[in-house]
Amino acid sequence: MRCWSRGICSVETLTSDSVVPASSEDLLRLEAFLSPFFQRGELLFIPREKLKKNIRRFLLARQPSGAILGSLGLFEWGKDLVEVRAFAVDAKVRGMGIGSMLLESALSRARLDGKQKVFALTYKIAFFTARGFCEVPKESLPHKIWGDCVLCLNRENCKEKSVIFSLKAQED
Ligand SMILES: CC(C)(COP(=O)(O)OP(=O)(O)OC[C@H]1O[C@@H](n2cnc3c(N)ncnc32)[C@H](O)[C@@H]1OP(=O)(O)O)[C@@H](O)C(=O)NCCC(=O)NCCS
Repeated sequence: MRCWSRGICSVETLTSDSVVPASSEDLLRLEAFLSPFFQRGELLFIPREKLKKNIRRFLLARQPSGAILGSLGLFEWGKDLVEVRAFAVDAKVRGMGIGSMLLESALSRARLDGKQKVFALTYKIAFFTARGFCEVPKESLPHKIWGDCVLCLNRENCKEKSVIFSLKAQED
């Protein structure tokens, strides 16, 4: 993919190889990338300690220079279920397929890890349903998931929807 947008990565090419697992060295850069999304309430806040603990569960879309253009964390909820968290793409390069590449890589990784289902709590429901996720009632997700809501800026007026992708259904 040619990524010309507003000079952010000049003439550089992003391919699915540009999506890589994060390592512990990425912690501060990832935190800096996510911070504006947390502040705007677009993503549920994740404290540094939790980011650190889960850093290897993150996929990053990078420029060859190493700059982060997008991120997606896959947080485990037991043996079979994972949650898409901290899924964001730099506003300057949206609509170029980076989010789709991250989500596709995340589904592949969850499948390789033997997971059955991937869910997300999101304001971008159409993005997910266009990619095979189904909307489900929030109550169908494990109750403990809502423990994180105390960290949410929008907790008094939650408009998030729950979407789920069944990896098993794809195998059948
Ligand atoms: C949701 C988000 C991660 C999507 O990232 P993105 O990189 O823009 O995603 P994509 O480019 O893959 O897809 C966006 C749209 O561009 C279109 N698109 C994809 N590749 C394209 C290309 N090469 N050229 C033009 N358009 C393209 C897609 O069709 C898609 O439209 P659709 O959703 O109607 O199907 C991004 O909007 C974001 O960071 N939002 C703020 C944070 C947020 O809400 N995150 C979700 C939390 S769960």
